[in-house]
Amino acid sequence: MFPRRPGPNGPAFNRAGPFRPSAAAQRKPPVEATPGFLPRWIASQAILDALIRGKPFEERFGGDSEPNAAGMDPRDRALARSIATVSMRRLGTIRKVLLAKMEKGLPRKAGPLEGILIAGAAQLMFMDVSDHAAVDLAVRAARNDPGSTPFAALVNAVLRQIAREKAELVEASDPLDDDTPAWLAQRWRTNYGEATARAIARAHRDEPTLDLTVKSDAQAWAEKLGGRVLPTGSVRLDSHVAIPELEGYADGQWWVQDAAAALPAQLLRAAPGERIADLCAAPGGKTAQLAQAGATVVAVDRSAERLKRLAGNLARLNLSAELSVANTLTYEAAAFDGVLLDAPCSATGTIRRHPDVAWTKRASDIVTLGKAQSELLDRAVALTKPGGLLVYCVCSLEPEEGSQQITDLLRRNPDVSRVPIEAGEIGGLDECVSALGDLRTLPCHLAADTPRQSGLDGFFAARLKKRG
Ligand SMILES: C[S@@+](CC[C@H](N)C(=O)[O-])C[C@H]1O[C@@H](n2cnc3c(N)ncnc32)[C@H](O)[C@@H]1O
Repeated sequence: MFPRRPGPNGPAFNRAGPFRPSAAAQRKPPVEATPGFLPRWIASQAILDALIRGKPFEERFGGDSEPNAAGMDPRDRALARSIATVSMRRLGTIRKVLLAKMEKGLPRKAGPLEGILIAGAAQLMFMDVSDHAAVDLAVRAARNDPGSTPFAALVNAVLRQIAREKAELVEASDPLDDDTPAWLAQRWRTNYGEATARAIARAHRDEPTLDLTVKSDAQAWAEKLGGRVLPTGSVRLDSHVAIPELEGYADGQWWVQDAAAALPAQLLRAAPGERIADLCAAPGGKTAQLAQAGATVVAVDRSAERLKRLAGNLARLNLSAELSVANTLTYEAAAFDGVLLDAPCSATGTIRRHPDVAWTKRASDIVTLGKAQSELLDRAVALTKPGGLLVYCVCSLEPEEGSQQITDLLRRNPDVSRVPIEAGEIGGLDECVSALGDLRTLPCHLAADTPRQSGLDGFFAARLKKRG
């Protein structure tokens, strides 16, 4: 038995009281051998884990560049991940539809029923799978757990109805009002205005393709891999493909990194011979950029596990850095020529790629993270040499974690000043530079011909100089 996180993102579609998956739902391994059953079962479990425990999908399915983190058959893993991801991308709409179809709401003590219904509805409404398979395998999943077995007929009836009406149901769905948790929609309206809040929510609808940071010769890699070079220098692939099979992966010619995530390390202007600290480094996309620029890099992260991943990534890329498992707040070292602080944050800028983030975070996380960010910033300043540069960044859309952190830092520390970023440094993307000279990318920036080819992760970065 585990506690349900108390509805940070609007009510679940349950009207009949809190829903707790039975212990059996967690213990019992899926026994069905029917083709296609396992990925759907795993998807429904991943959905429940995210909604109930706040467990990110990344922990279950691994990152883009990890071939088979969960030890699953790759095709099953891909389908499970895809069902779970689509479910979270369109969760608000799916819950609204399910609520409308279930007069009495979700039954109490129904085992994994909620996850099964969400995964089933997601397939019917938003995926190219046969209606029959989606309904039939959801009914089998309901029968696979004693808690949900009594509701197998309900699953059948509700999902069949959704299958019949799906065109109108999908048409009626609104990206901001339905598929964005209310607290986030409210924040974005306040902070960015109605039009931009809508554009952000619309950008979250489609899974983007992959961006790569290449060691050199971006144009040649774009041609080889089927993609194009973005104004910022990243290579954007035409389609979402299996990474480890691509040319250049095994011999470490490039790494997966959203084009916006590649900008903060560039802003540090690290040069050969400089000693640079990457203070929250794992899994190491930015460490790799700094090492590739020729700097001597010290990569600090408090998670030994994540630093192990970083070490593996650097080894593949044939790049090196000194690794230190440490809490940045208590980390001691001689001051550095330059410091990058990619602080832990709410990650609301990554919802396009990780839609579970929208439903696993809550408003109070922003307050807690904000306190940690300001302490980390103070420590980062202390670790910067007089005259050295410090780049602070977060993959968050929330001003409390971005511009507000810098306003507060400049107020409390007169030894620090802003070195404004110019659009020319980031491929001329004026729309991504704020009036004060900070980087502010949004999911709706860098529009292209198709939604999958458009957009950037939502990053904030500020470049600061410590008085010499
Ligand atoms: C946003 S991720 C960093 C991503 C990384 N910079 C990259 O580009 O791949 C934040 C990292 O900060 C680490 N972290 C969080 N709090 C920390 C602290 N107080 N000291 C050191 N590392 C910390 C986490 O373990 C996590 O790996």
